[in-house]
Amino acid sequence: MIPLHRAAAATLAWLGCGSAETTRDFASLNAEVREIVRGSCGSGAAPCHGPNPTARSLDFERLLESDTLWEAMADVQSCEYDTLPLVAPGEPERSWLMVKLTGQTDPDGRLRFDPDSSWVPAPDSCAVGVRGSYDFGTRMPEVGQLSPREIETFRAWILAGPPPTAQ
Ligand code: HEM
Repeated sequence: MIPLHRAAAATLAWLGCGSAETTRDFASLNAEVREIVRGSCGSGAAPCHGPNPTARSLDFERLLESDTLWEAMADVQSCEYDTLPLVAPGEPERSWLMVKLTGQTDPDGRLRFDPDSSWVPAPDSCAVGVRGSYDFGTRMPEVGQLSPREIETFRAWILAGPPPTAQ
């Protein structure tokens, strides 16, 4: 008979919860995330992801240069859906970033997302008023789509990353 803990590990791995990615250390995941973000920026002259009023906390060009992507997202409130942090360390399912990377989209390309019924956006929320109701932008990256492996790398990065107070 298979010992219980081995059976449970196999089930979790099958669900994608215990994949090899989650055992990788933060430094190597961080390096990979940086490359994915850098790749999404393209070679255009415009600054990548900022300064932009609707993605205001995420000036990727500057954050890649200073290697502070994690610090800019960990426990930092999303501008679009201020109920969630951009990244909740250890909790991909509570991280706005994962919604932005994996969410379904409407035919017009806008992210399909139902906010909590009690949610009242801050007056300066990035989500307010684009179409007379709340709008949460597009799936990220704005152009193209990440591969399942790249998305898994982000998920593992969030699982492995330290809480900001531990840095
Ligand atoms: C892997 C690469 C990317 C990641 C991880 C990412 C992540 C995000 C996140 C988390 C937000 C929400 C910010 C908040 O709520 O405070 C956001 C917004 C935004 N991003 Fe990105 N992004 C990526 C690539 C891009 C690219 C390549 C572009 C432009 C060509 C872009 C343009 C924008 C814009 C315009 C917004 C605000 C409006 C909207 O959400 O659609 N992003 N991004």
